[in-house]
This record gives sequence, structure tokens and C-alpha cells, in this order.
Amino acid sequence: MMILGIESSCDETAAAVVADGRTVLSSVVATQFELHAAYGGVVPEIAARRHLENILPVIQGALDQAGIALPDLDGLAVTQGPGLIGALLIGMAAAKTLAFTLKKPLVGVHHLQAHIMAAFLTETPPEFPFVALVVSGGHTNLYRVAGFREMALLGRSRDDAAGEAFDKVAKLMALGYPGGVRIEALAQGGKDSAYRLPRPRIPEEPLTFSFSGLKTAVAHLLKQHPEILADDRARVNLAASFQAAVVDCLTSRALLALEATGCPRLVVCGGVAANSRLRLALTTLSRAEGFELCLPPLHLCGDNAAMVAALGYRLLQAGERLDLAGDVFSRG
Ligand code: KG4
Ligand code: ZN
Repeated sequence: MMILGIESSCDETAAAVVADGRTVLSSVVATQFELHAAYGGVVPEIAARRHLENILPVIQGALDQAGIALPDLDGLAVTQGPGLIGALLIGMAAAKTLAFTLKKPLVGVHHLQAHIMAAFLTETPPEFPFVALVVSGGHTNLYRVAGFREMALLGRSRDDAAGEAFDKVAKLMALGYPGGVRIEALAQGGKDSAYRLPRPRIPEEPLTFSFSGLKTAVAHLLKQHPEILADDRARVNLAASFQAAVVDCLTSRALLALEATGCPRLVVCGGVAANSRLRLALTTLSRAEGFELCLPPLHLCGDNAAMVAALGYRLLQAGERLDLAGDVFSRG
């Protein structure tokens, strides 16, 4: 079964064709980085307009790359939410129009659950059950995953997402947007323990994340010591110390979730899962603690439509459908 996936929840317009929920025949991602860089973050209205320009060429590109035409498709899957409403609506309108005119089944997918599906597009997909840590620009969520339609939320961030913390600290350090990659690059060779930064914990909610205090700590530090930004060594050390603090928060909660659920395996996905310092820490932890670790390849960590098609395939197989009245959603 060939499924066309469509993704437009934030600042990436993406389309992909995936066979049987496993084999990626094509995956096209049009990023908008340069468009939003001047504003230091994604501007929803501008994102929606660019999605509108990109959506048809991106879908055509995915079909061409897969060497197929629209009638060859068996179904379509589109990101329904969470995300920016104006952005989501563009993908949704395209998906509904194609499904209606082609008379093919359509299903809406949850963006964060779709991120988890990146693990099933690897050579060794994980067995159920597992714990999934989704670390993106808008969310930091832990799930217990017992099946393709059984993803139970265990914990989330009560304030900023991990990616958001990277983006905000990058802004404080005048590194520009997108922040995650810039901080990772700057932190190379830096000393993790150069600056003492908090690892916020909520004792009564051990699986809840909190990153706003960490961001505020960096803001205070820079206010008290603006000279840090003028000193190359100090900047590198601050980037490394901040990155290490985020990594500690993520790895410690993931381990707690594994212990709490008794699951023997962990999947880590979403844009921040591309961070090499995080990948190294998780690999070391998995060896020390003896759990199985699944880290999707870098090109499947950030937003893409292959993950949308992969989840869509499973949901369509289970009989789920989105009718023309189905709407997008911003949170959830
Ligand atoms: O999953 P994603 O592509 O989009 C959302 O669904 O939000 O994640 C984007 C986030 C951004 O906050 C970006 O700064 C972060 O992922 N990110 C990284 C890295 N690459 C992307 N954060 C840390 N290190 C990276 N290498
Ligand atoms: Zn995402």
C-alpha cells in the first residue's frame, strides 16, 4: 500500500510516499529557515503563506521522486495537529482536495505520535512496548507506546519545550535561528561544567519537565556577566554547559520512565534528537543501564512527511478515516 504523507504544522512543508508503512520511496522537505531567521523565530502568518506556495510543488516532487502518479496512491495521511493553525490548514486543504478528487481514503495524524514513527522507518524497528521521548521545538513528551494506536502520555514539559529552550538561549547568546544546531556547533570542545546551571525537577511529578528556569538562569548569568558574550572561550563553555543541562534533564527523565513502566527499550525522536551530545549521552546510558535504544537517523528526527505517512498507513489499516468536516487543532 502506497501512502502519501503531508506535513505543514510549523515551518517545514513536507510530502513523502511510503510503502507499507516501512519503505520510504520519497521524502521532500522544504524548510523556511531563512524566511524566519530575521525575526528570530517562526512567524505564523509568514509560515502559512510560504506553505501555500510550497505545498503543490512539494507534493509533486514527492510523487516524481517515488516515480508514481496520483492514481497510484492507496491513501493519504495529513498532520492534523498540534501546530500552527494557519500552517496546518494548508496541508489539510491540499490533503482533503486530493482525497476527494481521487476518491482515496484520508486519515489525520497527531504530529508528535508521527515523530515516534521515525523509529519504524529504520532497519531495526523497536518491538512494543517501549518508552518514547519526543523532543521537538514545541513539545517535550514522554509516552508509553504499546501499539500504533496505543500511545499513552506519561509526562510533558510544564513550560518551555527542550527545543524552545535551545532556541531562546541561542537568541540570548545572539546566535540566531534555528537555535539548536547553532548551540550544538558552538558547544564543540566546551566544558560542560564551566557554568553551574540548574536541572529543574518537580519532586511530586518526576516525569514532568521544566525548562523555563534553565533559560532564565542563562538570562540572569548574561545580565550579570555580559562580558561572556565577548569572550570566545566563555561563549563556547556557556553553550556546552547549557546543552549539558538540557541533556541531563532529558536523560534522567527518560530513565525514570523506563523504570516506572518496566519497558526495556527507549525511542528518542523529534528535532532535538538530532543533537549529537544527547545521542552520545543516551548511548552511554543505554549501555550502562542495559536498555535497548532506538535513535532514528538525523534526517528523520526533524519534521518530515515520511513519519506522517508511516503512522497514516497503520491508522488506515485499522479503519480510521478523516472526513471532509475533520478539522485541524493547535494543542493536544
Ligand atoms: O521536531 P522539529 O523539527 O519541529 C517541531 O515539531 O517543533 O524540532 C525543531 C526543534 C527546534 O527547536 C530546533 O532548535 C531543535 O529542534 N533542534 C535541535 C537540533 N536540531 C534541531 N536542538 C538541539 N540540537 C540540534 N542539533
Ligand atoms: Zn515536529
